[in-house]
Amino acid sequence: MTILITGGAGFIGSHAVRLFVQRYPQYRIINLDALTYAGNLANLRDVEQAPNYTFVRGDIRDAALLDRLFEEYRFDAVIHLAAESHVDRSIDNPLAFVETNVLGTVNLLNAARKHWAGRFEGRRFYHISTDEVYGSLGSEGYFTEETPYDPRSPYSASKAASDHFVRAYFHTYGLPVVLSNCSNNYGPYQFPEKLIPLMINNIREGRPLPVYGDGRNVRDWLWVIDHAEAMDAILHRGRVGETYNIGGHNEWANIDLVYLLCDLADELLGRPAGTARQLITFVKDRPGHDRRYAIDASKIRRELGWQPSIAFEEGLRKTIQWYLDNTEWLQQVVSGEYRAYYEKHYEQH
Ligand code: NAD
Ligand code: TYD
Repeated sequence: MTILITGGAGFIGSHAVRLFVQRYPQYRIINLDALTYAGNLANLRDVEQAPNYTFVRGDIRDAALLDRLFEEYRFDAVIHLAAESHVDRSIDNPLAFVETNVLGTVNLLNAARKHWAGRFEGRRFYHISTDEVYGSLGSEGYFTEETPYDPRSPYSASKAASDHFVRAYFHTYGLPVVLSNCSNNYGPYQFPEKLIPLMINNIREGRPLPVYGDGRNVRDWLWVIDHAEAMDAILHRGRVGETYNIGGHNEWANIDLVYLLCDLADELLGRPAGTARQLITFVKDRPGHDRRYAIDASKIRRELGWQPSIAFEEGLRKTIQWYLDNTEWLQQVVSGEYRAYYEKHYEQH
């Protein structure tokens, strides 16, 4: 099997690439990534020499490139993660999200449809999406696979649009698609613009910890490697045309999560208890800030036997320790140094 993974140099994509390259030496894994600010080949140092792994720098907005790659590599499956992924950036520049998340996805669908024409058997187009497409919950209830879409940020609107196109290609052309919608991921290699690594970095440097609004917005957090495990199950055993919700059954109000992060970080840094909490600063709320996300993941558990593997406090400890041990990675990502390096060393395909 030859698998195209898009966005494999990003946070979740790098964990997916690592899992597939290491677990399936008989597969060929092609990682296509444009190396935007969020893509970083340092996330994949431990697999870059593997004989079953190939990196291609390229952009999913480039339809001609996708055509050439499908021709050259004859992919059997696509796992599509490449996206603009940060809500705050989508509020500043929605069009970038339309271009990559919507147009880029349709380009990929077109390439798969063309190159797999008449030979859909055994092939899979697996689209990775988010729980944010379902909108915002009150204090009760969960998102199921049947919850109507109600995206409210430019990011979630672009992901919702891409999900609709993927399903449309299943219904209209019979393309063998499968989708999953996952809650907030955390773990090593997450870009420090997202809540958890941003807080860890600021605690480390003694800078303010910006909590949006009243801090009572709720997110469900999942260990990123558990997401990669779910992808393995869905790619191999998910039913064509189906959607699977993935979540950690692990809801936290942002402020409670920040308290926990502060206390664990003080302990791991050997600082007096209560030091980090003093850095907490409430700041202006994010416009249109979704109040609560919560996932009902019973379908994937029932049908595919998947469930989260580690307790949250254990995962957070590992995550904090990883960021404390990898200050060079963090420094380079924050300074943008690695991007200058790529501009020099990796020409666009
Ligand atoms: P990320 O921002 O860390 O990584 C995105 C990757 O895509 C980067 O490597 C980037 O270089 C690449 N990319 C961006 N635009 C591209 C383009 N035009 N062509 C080719 N490559 C491009 O994102 P992430 O957090 O790893 O999320 C990956 C996927 O999972 C996204 O589709 C996202 O919507 C989805 N998702 C994320 C979360 C989460 O908590 N982070 C939760 C559920 C779903
Ligand atoms: P984020 O990691 O951006 O993920 P998403 O918005 O996709 O869920 O944010 C998680 C939560 O943390 C969200 O409710 C916004 C909040 N937040 C802060 O309070 N301060 C911050 O600096 C950031 C980045 C997020």
